[in-house]
Amino acid sequence: AVAERVFSGVQPTGNLHLGNYLGAIKRFVALQETHDCLYCVVDLHAITVWQDPEELKRHTREVTAAFIACGIDPKAHIVFNQSQVSGHAELAWIFNCVARMGWLSRMTQFKEKAGKDRENVSLGLFAYPSLMAADILLYRATHVPVGEDQKQHLELTRDIAQKFNVDFAASIAANGLGDAYFPLTEPLIAGPATRVMSLRDGSKKMSKSDPSDFSRINLTDDADAIAGKVRKAKTDPEPLPSEEAGLKARPEADNLVGIYAALVDGSRQSVLDQFGGGQFSTFKSALVDLAVAKLGPIGAEMKRLMDDPGAIDAILIDGADRARVIADRTIADVKDIVGM
Ligand code: ADP
Ligand code: NA
Repeated sequence: AVAERVFSGVQPTGNLHLGNYLGAIKRFVALQETHDCLYCVVDLHAITVWQDPEELKRHTREVTAAFIACGIDPKAHIVFNQSQVSGHAELAWIFNCVARMGWLSRMTQFKEKAGKDRENVSLGLFAYPSLMAADILLYRATHVPVGEDQKQHLELTRDIAQKFNVDFAASIAANGLGDAYFPLTEPLIAGPATRVMSLRDGSKKMSKSDPSDFSRINLTDDADAIAGKVRKAKTDPEPLPSEEAGLKARPEADNLVGIYAALVDGSRQSVLDQFGGGQFSTFKSALVDLAVAKLGPIGAEMKRLMDDPGAIDAILIDGADRARVIADRTIADVKDIVGM
């Protein structure tokens, strides 16, 4: 039996934001207590859309710095850069030959990102979920903490694992590798901030790629920037409700209450118990203080770490060496199974 293992990744595409923190990195930190964890800076995913080479390098270090500044321990767990472990690309190719065109055509993130320009996006953008399956299954990870935006990709990962296990069942058994080689990985999607929305538009998720910097709180924003963005955040004229049901048709209010709840590890209702019936401006001031208290030290630590790029690179080299030990074993098994 494989021990419970967590894998997750963040793209080095700049502008790490509160959604990445609450939907992903904060939860990566908590899982260190209970699981063996691998946290990866997924640059092979980033280049599905063109990236400036110097920026890509800088952002790879920046995500690494964010992981560490948020409390991930690169000695007790594995922090590494995807492109330094060649097994990701190797297994992804094999999975490209297991996954079906129809499955990938149904991915809503591809449809959103490709938009009307389908003829002109990279082949890699289409195959992205197959690479994500390889990232996870290369380590035979049992659990993946992600935001809700990744749920459909996780289902595809399970479909690929299942089809591989079935297509090669006889060979898996003949190689003495049991009944099923790959686990059916479970997503870990929980808490009040699985989907943090834009501060400018409650119908869009907070995203690195939103052209408006006022749509997101970046992890490196200082107190003034955070205060300005929260004060300008879109709201409606009603005071806050005292019951959670009162947030239903109010996406912007719901989002801010959800952010507050996630930052204090509480529920929306506990936030409304405190602020319900009061004015938005009072709640916003409290949210600014809370966000500054939580993010200020993270941003400062990220900046400190970024001043020593050599030290960050050393962490990534060590992490890749340790990841490769697991990855090489999987690639050797998979080649035996497939007949290579
Ligand atoms: P982005 O979607 O901003 O480009 P990534 O694709 O690198 O960021 O996602 C990194 C992690 O952050 C993933 O686990 C993703 O689910 C999570 N995440 C991204 N945006 C949000 C959001 N707005 N709310 C909650 N989680 C998010
Ligand atoms: Na994403």
